[in-house]
Amino acid sequence: MIQIDSTDIKKQKKLALTWAITFLILFPVLITLGLLMRLRQGEVTEAAPSEFFSYMTLHGLGMAGVLFSFAFAALWYLNSTRYVKLNVKFGWFLYIIIAIGVVGLLIGTLIGKFGPGWYMLYPLPFKGTFWPLWATKLSVISLIILGVGWLVGILHILYALAKEYGGITNLLGWQYLKKDNSNIREIPSMVLITTISLIPGVFALIIGAAMLIMYLLQSFEPSLAFDPLMMKNMVMFFGHTLVNITMYCAVGWVYALLPEFTHREWKVNKAVVYSWNATFFFILFAYLHHLYMDFVQPTSLQYLGQIISYSSAIPATGITMFGVIAQVYHAKMKWSIIPLMFLFGMAGWAIGGFAAVVDSTIALNSSLHNTLWVPAHFHTYMLMGVVLFILGFLYYLFSGNNKEEKDSFGNAGFWIFVLGSYGFLLMFYLGGLNSVPRRYSNYSGIEIDHVRETGVHLAQCAALFVGVLLIGLILMYLSLICRLVQQKATNKKND
Ligand code: HEM
Repeated sequence: MIQIDSTDIKKQKKLALTWAITFLILFPVLITLGLLMRLRQGEVTEAAPSEFFSYMTLHGLGMAGVLFSFAFAALWYLNSTRYVKLNVKFGWFLYIIIAIGVVGLLIGTLIGKFGPGWYMLYPLPFKGTFWPLWATKLSVISLIILGVGWLVGILHILYALAKEYGGITNLLGWQYLKKDNSNIREIPSMVLITTISLIPGVFALIIGAAMLIMYLLQSFEPSLAFDPLMMKNMVMFFGHTLVNITMYCAVGWVYALLPEFTHREWKVNKAVVYSWNATFFFILFAYLHHLYMDFVQPTSLQYLGQIISYSSAIPATGITMFGVIAQVYHAKMKWSIIPLMFLFGMAGWAIGGFAAVVDSTIALNSSLHNTLWVPAHFHTYMLMGVVLFILGFLYYLFSGNNKEEKDSFGNAGFWIFVLGSYGFLLMFYLGGLNSVPRRYSNYSGIEIDHVRETGVHLAQCAALFVGVLLIGLILMYLSLICRLVQQKATNKKND
């Protein structure tokens, strides 16, 4: 087992804290954009459609990008301080590259009003637009910069892990499947899940980069044209896979950190290897359920989309839920805020995942497609899944020896945040069930009175719940700051 010296750990921690503070600044800014959208849809405020759609684009791309970047940074930190040497200078270089991409995107959307939504459905960024061409060029270049940063970062982690654990097949846990596995190189569960999450990320980023380069070429040479169906397959493969692996990266650190609270091991075994390897395959094809409405997509792929979407819900979720129950059942543990967040994060993943399976059922998708049910399901597992895992990790990072201490302030913030978030999500689900369409800057153009009025009222209630979740978030921020200050003071005393 590799020894990581304490100076390296300190350097990696500084990098992780910088990522953490960046996340803590950007996250509420992006929530505020979401709040502004709900206020606009609820007719509480007025904003031009161009404003709404540029907010929606920045919010969607920003949230997905910030959550993935932070999940990547957390995995970087945990791997580099436990299992493998990672080059901290390269880590800082990636931070700067990603920051440049974010600044470009902020300018493109907030000043240039680039507003085709996160998926820029081709030929949208070129036809019928209300923003100038420079905003498209800048936003696409910024996304390419982000993609290249993530790609080289992922390759760096995978290369270092493969070198340390004797090759990629060992990282995938295939040594556990041998008949005689008594003398094999064991791997920590987080290393297995890091690998399973990041390899599909490599495919997604390569396809994403190719697609973005095609957009860029057309922005310089307007006579170019590409096949819209191919572009949609590419963008959905890229976006769906990236969001999917953000969840799996976060689950990876729960496997590593929860045992520190339950005092039980969570090791890799054959069942874990089979389940996560099956997930590896399913991640790559689950995106097909985004194309059910595209009648020109070959029918066989539509059936494949349904089968794989159903199958993808089972192995990783099943084995992880079973593992969590085995971890906490009758465990002599203190339910401090960190394991609480991990447990609720699991629940959010399961609830959002179930709503996703409902939507991926072809018969139901024909009613729910492009209604608010779609943001409902992915907001559930991102907000009540990934975000809770991230907050749990931040509490872990910001705490010294007080990880298991009672934190009434933080706990109050946590419960208020959960209450506000589920209230906000419920309004999306009710909107979906009442056929309220997604991506409408306001509902005044809807001719069916019931749908229009329901959409407006639900948006108003959602805005109130966002206010509640923000209060919870502020309380948690204060408790996090207290922990960081306490940790710094203890470190100073010990130095
Ligand atoms: C916590 C507070 C949040 C609020 C108030 C919020 C609000 C919204 C709203 C109002 C929309 C537009 C819905 C529509 O189609 O009519 C939206 C879309 C979206 N949100 Fe959120 N959201 C939040 C959190 C998140 C999180 C954590 C993610 C993480 C990935 C996220 C990702 C997205 C994406 C990808 C879209 C779709 C954008 C598009 O269609 O281009 N949101 N959000």
